[in-house]
Amino acid sequence: MSDTATLSQLFASIEDDLHLVDKTFEEATSSDMDMLTAAVVHVLGSQGKRLRIALTLLSGKLIQYRFEKLLPLSVALEMVHLATLVHDDIVDHATTRRDIPTVNALFGDNIAILLGDYLFAKTAGLVAEVEDFRVDRLFSETVARICEGTIMEMLSVRQLDLSIEHYIERVSRKTACLMSACCKGGAIVAQGSEAQIALLEQYGTNLGIAFQIIDDVLDYTGTATSIGKPAGNDLRQGLVTLPLIYALKHERNGRLEKVSALVGQAQPEDAEVTDVVRWVRDSPAIGEALELARHYAARARALLSEFPSSPERGVLEDVVEFVVARSR
Ligand code: IPE
Ligand code: IPE
Ligand code: MG
Ligand code: MG
Repeated sequence: MSDTATLSQLFASIEDDLHLVDKTFEEATSSDMDMLTAAVVHVLGSQGKRLRIALTLLSGKLIQYRFEKLLPLSVALEMVHLATLVHDDIVDHATTRRDIPTVNALFGDNIAILLGDYLFAKTAGLVAEVEDFRVDRLFSETVARICEGTIMEMLSVRQLDLSIEHYIERVSRKTACLMSACCKGGAIVAQGSEAQIALLEQYGTNLGIAFQIIDDVLDYTGTATSIGKPAGNDLRQGLVTLPLIYALKHERNGRLEKVSALVGQAQPEDAEVTDVVRWVRDSPAIGEALELARHYAARARALLSEFPSSPERGVLEDVVEFVVARSR
C-alpha cells in the first residue's frame, strides 16, 4: 500500500475534522496581497502528510475531544511546520519539496524568508484563540527550540566526527520538539492530568526522533521521485546525519579521506555525491540507523501503554509503525 493510502486509512476516524482543519488553514493564510497569495496558493498546492495535525487531534481525542480548541491549535502547529520547511529549503538550497518547486526556487529567497515570517506571524493569532497560557508558553519554547536545532545543524556542517549523542540532541530540537508540542498541546487543551500531558509529550519526542532518523535514512535510500524532494541533499550540503555517522564508524580502505574531501566542498560534483551515497546505502549503516529508529519507536509505543486501550490509542500506535515503515 502507498504511504498516502496508509495515511488516509490511519486517519479515517478524524477525516471530517481534517477537512475542517484544511479549510481553516487556508482561511488563516489568506492575504489581500497578490504576491503573498501566489506564494501561499503555491505551497498549499501540494499536500504533505499532515502528521502534526493528526498528532494534535488524536492526542486530544485520547483524553477528551474538544475540537473547538484543537482546531486552531492544530492549524497553528502545522503552520509552524510549513514555515520551518519554507525557511529550511532556503538554508538547504533545495529546489523541490512535495514534488513541486520550492518557494525559494520559484519566487526567490527573499519572498521565501518573508512567507515563512508571514506564516509564523499568523500562528500567533491562532494560538491566541486557544486561550490557554500554557499553550502560549509551549509555542514560544517550541519555535525557539526549532531555531536552536537548526543553528546547531548549521554549526555542525562539514564536521565528520559527530557523536550519536550530538545527533540525537540536534534532531530532538529541530524536529522532535514540534511533534512533542503537538501531542503535549493536544493533551493540554483536552484538560489532561499532568501525568497524561507528560506521557504524550514524551511520546511525541520519541516519535519525532524516530521520524527524523527515517527522514535521514530516506535521504540515502530514496530517490527524488520517491521522497518528493532532492535525495542525497544532506551529503551535498556537507551535513553529517546518522547513516553517515554509522558508516564512518566502520570505514575501511581510505574512505574517510574521500568522504572528508567531499564534505569539505561547497559544490561537490554529482558523481562524487552518488559514490558516497551508494557506499553508505550498501553498508550496514542503514540497518543500524533503522535499528535506532525502531528503538525510539518502541519507546513511543510503550508510553502509550500507560493509557487504557481505545481506538485513539490504537491509531497513535499505528502512527508509530507508519513513521518507521514509510518510504516518503
Ligand atoms: C519534513 O517533514 C521535515 C522533517 C522534519 C524531516 P514531513 O516529512 O512531515 O513533511 P510533509 O509535511 O509531509 O511534507
Ligand atoms: C527537518 O530536517 C527540517 C526542519 C525541522 C525544518 P530536514 O532538513 O532533513 O528536512 P527535509 O529533508 O528538507 O524535509
Ligand atoms: Mg531540509
Ligand atoms: Mg531531510
